Order: sequence, then structure tokens, then C-alpha cells
Amino acid sequence: MSSKKIKILSIDDEYIIRETISDYLEDKGYDIVEAENGRVGIEVFRSEKPDLVLVDLRMPEMDGLEVLSILCKESPQTPIIMVSGTGILQDAIEAIRKGAWDYVSKPIQDMAVLDYAVNRSLERARLIRENDAYKEHLEEKVRLRTKEIEKSNAQLRSTLEDIVESLSILTEKRDPYTSGHQKRVSVLAALIAQEMNLSSEQITAIRFAGQLHDIGKIYVPAEFLSKPTRLEEEEMAVIRKHSAIGYDILKNIQFPWPIAETVLQHHERMDGSGYPQGLTKDSILLDAKIIAIADVVEAMSSHRPYRPSLGVERALDEIKNNKGKRYCTSCSDALFSLFEKKREKLFDLLI
Ligand SMILES: [Fe+2]
Ligand SMILES: [Fe+2]
Repeated sequence: MSSKKIKILSIDDEYIIRETISDYLEDKGYDIVEAENGRVGIEVFRSEKPDLVLVDLRMPEMDGLEVLSILCKESPQTPIIMVSGTGILQDAIEAIRKGAWDYVSKPIQDMAVLDYAVNRSLERARLIRENDAYKEHLEEKVRLRTKEIEKSNAQLRSTLEDIVESLSILTEKRDPYTSGHQKRVSVLAALIAQEMNLSSEQITAIRFAGQLHDIGKIYVPAEFLSKPTRLEEEEMAVIRKHSAIGYDILKNIQFPWPIAETVLQHHERMDGSGYPQGLTKDSILLDAKIIAIADVVEAMSSHRPYRPSLGVERALDEIKNNKGKRYCTSCSDALFSLFEKKREKLFDLLI
């Protein structure tokens, strides 16, 4: 800012003081506007919007401290210098405490003191303005960057959804009898998780794990999967490897959730009767316990090459009869309360 453009308001009830200050500062290149009392000073301040204010402390009607407190509220960024003839230190302290930027004693013996006070306050105001502008610029940059990150996160999430969907379809392409099984398990498991009031992140994790839980079946010979009669013990043993194979396929993908571990554990049972590790109770991930229930309900409700559908009711009986034994109690309860609330919708999903 060039000094010629800087406007200073001088408020003083003594004409001679105003003139002395104005003459001196005009010579220094400032624009000066004057007011003969506090009330007029505030009006001139509002209309002229000066860059700095010099205000006399002792004035009739409205004293300098009152003017100071009004101007500080209206424009805290405008430097105000208190000018006082009393020369009492207490006045200076009071003025500074109330928001004055500096204090000059009258009569001003050496005008360089005034010049110094004006320059120092203007410089401080300039630094504050620059600092504010810099902060605003930084905040704007942070806002823009945050938006970019959110957008790219949303794109990544959408790509991840597509990849999971494609992997899921790939598995089921080889096994048309279980087509849509993973999708339905995923939907049912996510609904159970929702009923259990899990976080949206955990629900997403369960939804993804549900869609991929049988991915290991890609290594099981197709004829085993579509065999119209009951499987031999050795064939069952091969099929049972699918959860460990699924884990191997997924373990190197850096999902933000334990998808591979959930897939590994989806045939584990609370009482240790599951596979592949025979885990029990708390050693099984909650996500896997939920998918286990959704998996059993969906599988029993669907037709299989070796048997027709057993029906949703039979599936629910299986969970009811083994709640707290094979299946997690709170997950089972969430399933039942879900069926109470959304019976029709769930039958539509499963049949
Ligand atoms: Fe499975
Ligand atoms: Fe399954």
C-alpha cells in the first residue's frame, strides 16, 4: 500500500491540536480527515473508512475510551492510537487494555514520536492482513485438496465395488447351480450387520466378504460342484478346502478390512465343529459369524444339484436349534428380529 493512499482519521476537540497533527501527517503524504468530537468521529469513521484513527482521550460528550470500544467492535483490524494530554501511565494502560494499538502523549514534543507510532501500527495492520490472507489461502487450498481426496476415494471405492462384483461373478460362472448365492449371502449378511447396529464401515466389510466368501470354489472341480448325488467323503474334503484357498487368493489384496480372514473363517462354528481350523467362540471374527449364518440360511433355502430347496423355515429352524451352539447368539437374534420386521422382503430375496 503506498503512503499517499493511506487515510488517517484524527478525532480531537482542540482545533489547534487537530491542525498540528493534520499538517504534519499531510506533509508525510497521508490523507487526513478530521472530527471535532467522538460522536462525529464515529460517523466520519463509518463514511470514510480510514486506515488508522488517532483519538483524543479526554473529550466532552463522548470520551476517547468510549470511541475506542465502539470502533474496536466495528473494525478490530483498524489500528487506533490514543492521544492524551494527561500523561498519566494509568490512562495508557487502560487504553491499551481496551484495544488501542498505541499511545502518544500530548503535547507532542517531537512529531517523530507520532510518525513512529503511526508507521508501527500501519505495519502491524499490514502484517495481520497478510497473515489473514495467507491463512485464508491455505484454508482454501486445504478445502480444495480435501474435495479432491474425497472424490478420488469415492472413485476408488466404486472401482473396488466393481472388482469385487466381477470376482464374485467369475466364481459363480463355473457353478451355475449356486449362481447369485454370494450376492444373496452378501445382502442378507449386511442386513444382519445393520440390525446389530454395526458401523457403516463394518457393514461394507461384511458385504464385500459375503460377495467373495466362496471364491475358493474356483479351484474345486466343476463336476463336484454340480454333482446330482451326495458327495463322497473325499469329494467333500476337496470342497472344504475352498475357504483356505479363498484366503490364499485374497490375502495379498490390501483391503481396509479383514476380508481374507473372514473368508477363511466362514465355515467355522462357535462349538469348534467347523473348518478349516476348528476355531471356537471369540477366536472367530464377528464378520465370519454373521456370514456363516447368512450362508446357511441362503444355502438351505436354495435348490442344490443333489436336493430341492429345504425352505426358509427349515433354514431358520436350523439357526434356532443351534443358536449359541454352532451359531453366534447375538447374530442369530439379529436374524430373527430381521425376519420379524422384513419377512416378505427376505423371502423374496431367498426364494
Ligand atoms: Fe463356503
Ligand atoms: Fe457359501
